[in-house]
Amino acid sequence: MSRSWPVSSSILDGGERLGGGLFGETWRVGDRVIKVAGEDYRRALPWGIPREIEVFERGLEHPNIAPFQDHGRTPEGRPWIATTFVSGATVRDLLVSGPPMATNRACVVALGVARALQAAHAVGVLHCDVNVHNVIAVADPPGRHAVLVDWGIAALVDAGGDRATTARLKSGTPRYAAPEQRRPARHSPATDVWGLGVLLYCMVYRRPPFALDDLDRDAIAFPPGHPELEWLLRRALAPRPADRPSLERLIGALSQAVSSPVAD
Ligand SMILES: Nc1ncnc2c1ncn2[C@@H]1O[C@H](COP(=O)(O)OP(=O)(O)OP(=O)(O)O)[C@@H](O)[C@H]1O
Ligand SMILES: [Mg+2]
Repeated sequence: MSRSWPVSSSILDGGERLGGGLFGETWRVGDRVIKVAGEDYRRALPWGIPREIEVFERGLEHPNIAPFQDHGRTPEGRPWIATTFVSGATVRDLLVSGPPMATNRACVVALGVARALQAAHAVGVLHCDVNVHNVIAVADPPGRHAVLVDWGIAALVDAGGDRATTARLKSGTPRYAAPEQRRPARHSPATDVWGLGVLLYCMVYRRPPFALDDLDRDAIAFPPGHPELEWLLRRALAPRPADRPSLERLIGALSQAVSSPVAD
């Protein structure tokens, strides 16, 4: 595909454009996925590609996270970051064009993402943007199931403390943003538990828990049919961060759901 974007660097030669977001463009070039910052990236600092680079500089590596490869700058000075291409489909694409997702598969995908988040939290990184676009459902190797991408609005927890550096950032993809992301408040691991709850809800019920313009996060409807997961989802989507389960508890509950027969 010919390049439609003014980057005078050979890094994107022969590449295929995967998409464009708030902070730049994403291209697949061979076995790499390269994200290049937009022209006015300095206005978005520290988020976007510079933030993603910071995240990987903390040594973040996990089977459920797209592996970091390299980073650099274009001749125009725009930062870029490369990760290894992961073959699969985003959860969004699966939900839009695939057959209904079996509940068991939804749970194993959520479990993979939960493990990725656990690894991130261990190095002081909160993802803050878990959603159906940023999770790739993979078929192989067996047992991996899901890969989390896009650390562009991640919050960094200061070493030795628990203060998230994006404490005042009101962001996240609106449909998925936790209540505390909509007002100036501290992000915490519970923010990612919320994101995981929304992801699982989308996969189980095949629709998001809220309309885009509905800001009332206290009144989620749970369609009938999944009593065993409803309890878990209600807790993960609790309006108050303190009422949500820890990732560890969520992982325990999801592992149990996966090992015991779950109604499809
Ligand atoms: N390593 C990867 N392997 C396969 N596909 C990827 C990979 N990284 C990203 N993608 C695909 O490219 C899309 C866009 O990437 P990403 O989510 O990182 O950026 P974005 O959302 O467009 O930008 P931003 O959130 O920075 O504004 C993803 O939704 C996913 O479909
Ligand atoms: Mg994204």
